[in-house]
Amino acid sequence: MSLLEVEDVVVRFGGVTAVNEARFSAEAGQITGLIGPNGAGKTTCFNVITGLQKPNQGRVWFDGRNVTNTPVHRRAHRGMGRTFQRLEAFGSLTVRDNVRVARDIAGGFTGLFGSAKGDVDALLERVGISAHANERADSIPTGTARLLELARCLARNPRMLLLDEPSSGLDESETGEFGDLLQSLVADGAAILMVEHDMDLVMRVCDAIHVLDFGSVIASGAPEEIRNDPRVQQAYLGYSADDEPEDRQATMTDLDVIGETTTIPAVPR
Ligand SMILES: Nc1ncnc2c1ncn2[C@@H]1O[C@H](COP(=O)(O)OP(=O)(O)OP(=O)(O)O)[C@@H](O)[C@H]1O
Ligand SMILES: [Mg+2]
Repeated sequence: MSLLEVEDVVVRFGGVTAVNEARFSAEAGQITGLIGPNGAGKTTCFNVITGLQKPNQGRVWFDGRNVTNTPVHRRAHRGMGRTFQRLEAFGSLTVRDNVRVARDIAGGFTGLFGSAKGDVDALLERVGISAHANERADSIPTGTARLLELARCLARNPRMLLLDEPSSGLDESETGEFGDLLQSLVADGAAILMVEHDMDLVMRVCDAIHVLDFGSVIASGAPEEIRNDPRVQQAYLGYSADDEPEDRQATMTDLDVIGETTTIPAVPR
């Protein structure tokens, strides 16, 4: 059984079906990507997995247990850690104190991230934001705040990190370093499930990718399979490479092949 299994989850908001019988998994020791156009249901899936949103149907399994009705704090205790698409740092605290609060709540480190044991400053160093340690969290750039959320998440020593658009706000070279950081975290034993619009990053670091469209998983596989999948190209581009050239009605003009652009822009719906 995978570390995380999402089984036929349905979430409805009034007449909107945000997640429609979604089924996917994420393995220990791997980076798993969850991608899809805007409004596909990615964040809602994260909310179901972490316990912030009750599903209308379906189940969530974590480490072999059915956690569908487990409260948020107990899921965190069992090893789920997440960051938020809309940043949720404590604005009036310094960067260092944001991480210290998480470390103190968790009751100290238990070992996964060896050299960072008990040491908030080592965590800030690891994610590359030491220079901002004494600044208030509401005064730092968005990209830095995303790394702060990651450090705060790591302070709880999670078994699985759920990261919602972690690279937005980072420039190209910062994103490159961020990819290396994610790979070093899984090398140390963490599992990562990542929602991300930067296809270069996704294609470079993910071991497996699931594609959501209108709340359903339309493709799952290794990066190369996903890049070449006609359904994925259809969802992102409005046409697939299999279509005749005259039938290609792209919703975006500057994107030929997924992964050859830095960021996939919003798809108008
Ligand atoms: N609390 C809510 N109440 C009503 N509708 C919601 C709510 N949360 C999400 N939705 C709707 O559910 C659908 C899925 O939203 P969700 O935020 O999960 O998408 P997403 O894939 O994370 O998109 P994005 O890439 O823009 O972050 C959208 O149509 C959205 O408007
Ligand atoms: Mg989202």
